[in-house]
Amino acid sequence: MDRLLVTGNGPLAGEVAIAGAKNAALPVLAAALLGSTPLTVSNVPAVRDIDTALRLLELLGCRIDRDGSTVQIDAGSVHSVRAPYELVKTMRGAILFLGPLLARFGSADVSLPGGCAIGSRPVNEHIEGLRAMGAELRIDSGYIKAKASRLRGCHYAFDVPSVTGTENLMMAAALADGETVLENAAMEPEIGDLARLLTAMGARIQGAGSSVVRIEGRPSLTGARHRVPPDRIETGTFLAAAAATRGSVTLRNTDPSFLQHVLAKLQASGLELSWGEDWITLDSGGRRCRAMHISTAPYPGFPTDLQAQFMAVNALAEGNATVVENIFENRFMHVAELKRMGAAIDLQGNTAIVQGREGLQGAPVMATDLRASAGLVIAALAADGETTIDRVYHLDRGYAGIDDKLASLGGMIRRIH
Ligand code: EPU
Repeated sequence: MDRLLVTGNGPLAGEVAIAGAKNAALPVLAAALLGSTPLTVSNVPAVRDIDTALRLLELLGCRIDRDGSTVQIDAGSVHSVRAPYELVKTMRGAILFLGPLLARFGSADVSLPGGCAIGSRPVNEHIEGLRAMGAELRIDSGYIKAKASRLRGCHYAFDVPSVTGTENLMMAAALADGETVLENAAMEPEIGDLARLLTAMGARIQGAGSSVVRIEGRPSLTGARHRVPPDRIETGTFLAAAAATRGSVTLRNTDPSFLQHVLAKLQASGLELSWGEDWITLDSGGRRCRAMHISTAPYPGFPTDLQAQFMAVNALAEGNATVVENIFENRFMHVAELKRMGAAIDLQGNTAIVQGREGLQGAPVMATDLRASAGLVIAALAADGETTIDRVYHLDRGYAGIDDKLASLGGMIRRIH
């Protein structure tokens, strides 16, 4: 199992290019199942979750042609509708195959993902939404078994705005009979991106990116060409790394419009930021930033996927701050590891009270999930001495070459096989 060896080495400086967004690419790959002709997707990030999604598509019978960051998927020869536990347990995003399989092939057999390190992560909204579209779903031996001769449009109101839930129902509705209206839908940028793809495939969609999405289903959809947008979470992770190390970085191939809440927090903490259409520069002027109060919320609020990284920034910032996690009930596993590095963090329920410290010390630590791992890498880059981070496979699920990118900014980071 790979480990990372990180030696604190002062400020990060330089430029890096941001990859395509994992969480935008996953629904796009699942949507390939809806088309009667091939889908070509560019700017696909080289991360493990994408490898897993492509393996799953292959297992279902799709023909995959991958050339660098461009992937072509032909769903013309699908012969299976089963997403097995062995793949789903490594990537919960595989639940996104449920809606498309059911809508296009009339049945689906998708393993229940189960809980994970950040919480119980139920999928009841996905199931109830598809039931409202006329599907029969039951749980059998750990699998969601779904059937429907033709889905029909419906009104479905989410109790909580689920990102993959909204995506699953949008994809199913695109091949359903009549209009579907989703209320209290998630508003993350990935939803708007999926709507652009489904529209290019022939669906009619209004309101994606707002809380009410209307989808007019079509009898069939075609393939299309689609470019995955920049990864807002990778962007925020590098901004946090620059802030924690008192560095100065420029991020290219990104989109600042998806990160307004995060950029405002960084500015309020005393860091200098500038941005254009596809770049962001953060300059800390070699100074410590002020601690930032953070409360995670659905988009456009502060993303839960950046909470761990900003916890690391706060652990090294000037002053005290609270970090409140409102999306997942157990997303504080990095706190105990940061404390091993000398961070002063007191956990009270879903609130972390962080007292910024002048420095942290390197220590052996354990990565517990994807974003927690990124938080530990950031703390390690800013700490004195050496940190080894175990279970790096979590990091590889969602960051493309993060060790090489950080090394190109001057970080001392080495992978041990
Ligand atoms: N929820 C339910 N019932 C459901 C679905 C969700 O109660 O049927 C609850 C969840 O327990 C949670 C809240 O709704 O409290 C939001 O969860 P959501 O369904 O939006 O999360 P997700 O769709 O499973 C996606 C991302 C996550 C990201 C969350 C929140 C993908 C593949 N995953 O997950 O990304 O944290 O939205 O923004 O898009 C990551 O990349 O590290 C990651 C975990």
